[in-house]
Amino acid sequence: MVLTVGETRTVRSSKRLRGTLSIPGDKSITHRALIFNAIAEGDAVIEGWLDSADTRSTIACLRDLGATIEERDDGRLIVHGRGRAGLQEPSDVLDCGNSGTSMRLLTGLVAGLPMLTVLTGDDSLRRRPMARVLRPLRQLGVVAVARAEDTLPPVVIQGGPTTGGQTLEPPVASAQVKSAILLAGLAADGPTTVRELAATRDHTERMLGAMGAGIALDGTAVTLTPPAGELQAVGVRVPADISTAAPWIVAAAAHPDAELTLTGVGINPTRTGILDILRAMGADITLEEERTVGGEPVADIVVRSSELRGTRIDGDLIPRAVDELPLAALAGALATGETVIAEAAELRAKESDRIATTSAMLRAFGVTLEEREDGLTVQGGARLRGATVDSSGDHRLAMLGGIAGVFASGETHVTRAEAVHVSYPDFWADLDRCTSD
Ligand code: S3P
Repeated sequence: MVLTVGETRTVRSSKRLRGTLSIPGDKSITHRALIFNAIAEGDAVIEGWLDSADTRSTIACLRDLGATIEERDDGRLIVHGRGRAGLQEPSDVLDCGNSGTSMRLLTGLVAGLPMLTVLTGDDSLRRRPMARVLRPLRQLGVVAVARAEDTLPPVVIQGGPTTGGQTLEPPVASAQVKSAILLAGLAADGPTTVRELAATRDHTERMLGAMGAGIALDGTAVTLTPPAGELQAVGVRVPADISTAAPWIVAAAAHPDAELTLTGVGINPTRTGILDILRAMGADITLEEERTVGGEPVADIVVRSSELRGTRIDGDLIPRAVDELPLAALAGALATGETVIAEAAELRAKESDRIATTSAMLRAFGVTLEEREDGLTVQGGARLRGATVDSSGDHRLAMLGGIAGVFASGETHVTRAEAVHVSYPDFWADLDRCTSD
């Protein structure tokens, strides 16, 4: 689906929600399958990958680094890995577009390669914090600098062998930071340990382990030991993305007449916070056909109407549901009682300041809520009124507006609706498919 820039989408309230949706591939796993196989030895076939603006940014950057990535007519991607030496110094700046995962993981990748790389991105990405990645890289011996006193992209990396035998303790629980450090650790002369404040998604550990790196886990600490030779290419069947399924999971759980089935969704326990949150709120969610696909647990998720109750969301749940918290706030508005999201200041460092943008958007629909530095307190029992709301150029906010519109009286207009192309280009088409007037 091609979306033009500056597009407005109109949504009407829906009497019922019905259908089976095949959700696109996992964004985090697609980025990793591409990046890790680009420095591996051998050819890797990637099936079910997410084709979206963010993953296209990673593909373009890897090609600028000299990687050979072939797109087959049958929809598969083949990454032809020639080891770490297969990548070379790019002749121009790498453009990561809107993609924080491309920026952070590629920064970690090039930190371990003997060359100079400059990485930048769009207006949103150039406002996102990089010190969290650059500080640990400097501790590993990498020359890593950035604009605004080493905090914001563009980022300049002079990479090379890194210093092993260290334990790094990032001040934020972030899978992107953890992954960047582990990638740099591949170039070290010994093991590298990352100790996290709370467990974050572990796709990097799973995939690098499958490719021959030594991975040892101890609570929230992970130690990577570089393989004796090169990483070995690994084929990946990418499961559907639970973060992309989340709009439908929330919509069906909160709607009075709903039954939605979402097929082949990744249910890695580091990603299923939204299921735990909704279940604590009383949602009717069933997992069917549980299986393992490409080293990741997968299931069909069936969600039926339920009456939701307010809840408290904080602590270890935050990194396990970090991209779903705007939707959790909407669930809170549609529930009875109060919902508190706390210890979630990280939301301010996403594609938009999601505490501010979620609160502005839900207020426009008539929701009563209080914005705090580290989260939101949402009053339930809201009767949503149709509104004109802006995505702020943030894909998750565009989808939040679309789903809120399903529950609102009258018409809802979502401006800059094309932001969904970052992770879910067919979102608006799928919304049309499972709603009815
Ligand atoms: C991601 C990690 C999360 C998440 C992002 C994807 C990843 O960011 O918000 O959408 O693929 O590692 P943080 O790890 O920085 O919280």
